[in-house]
Amino acid sequence: MNNKHQRSLVLTGFMGTGKTSVGRKIAQRLEVPFFDIDALIETREAQSVRAIFETQGQAYFRAREAEWCTWLARAETAVIATGGGALVDPRNRSAFGCCYIVCLDAAPLEIAARLGNARERPLLSDPSALERIERLLSERRAAYAALARHVDTTGKSIAQVAEEIIALYRAESGRP
Ligand code: S3P
Repeated sequence: MNNKHQRSLVLTGFMGTGKTSVGRKIAQRLEVPFFDIDALIETREAQSVRAIFETQGQAYFRAREAEWCTWLARAETAVIATGGGALVDPRNRSAFGCCYIVCLDAAPLEIAARLGNARERPLLSDPSALERIERLLSERRAAYAALARHVDTTGKSIAQVAEEIIALYRAESGRP
């Protein structure tokens, strides 16, 4: 990418849909910086997301997440991966209103397989992961549906999803 003022690409979607891996790949291909909001929070707080949930609570985590959304929305062209709950909050969706947002989707069974026992994900740490995934997905359905662009990642590799998104991004930006 050679236009510094191209709008940033924001990847969101449920846990296990590949936001971080796909985002890193796209950023490499487009030669722009990559930011992962969970990683930024962990570095700034010097604690894992799980530990933040346990010691400070979810509301504290959500407040830090919202700060990063506001801050990154003003950054020059970058690829940004949010945590799965970030854009459930309409204020964070509107913070990124000027960006190119893509929501990654995946079938619940595939999400469960990708996450394994998901020890580091505080919202999925009970034993009935598939049930919990289906419940959280249905609670979030309306919020994710409010996002205009979706890419289904079920059965696709990270590279395939990355190429699909780059093609969409270029086509909609009128770039070759
Ligand atoms: C969350 C998703 C996680 C992390 C936190 C909460 C969520 O990020 O932000 O555990 O609410 O969906 P990933 O989607 O990157 O796992």
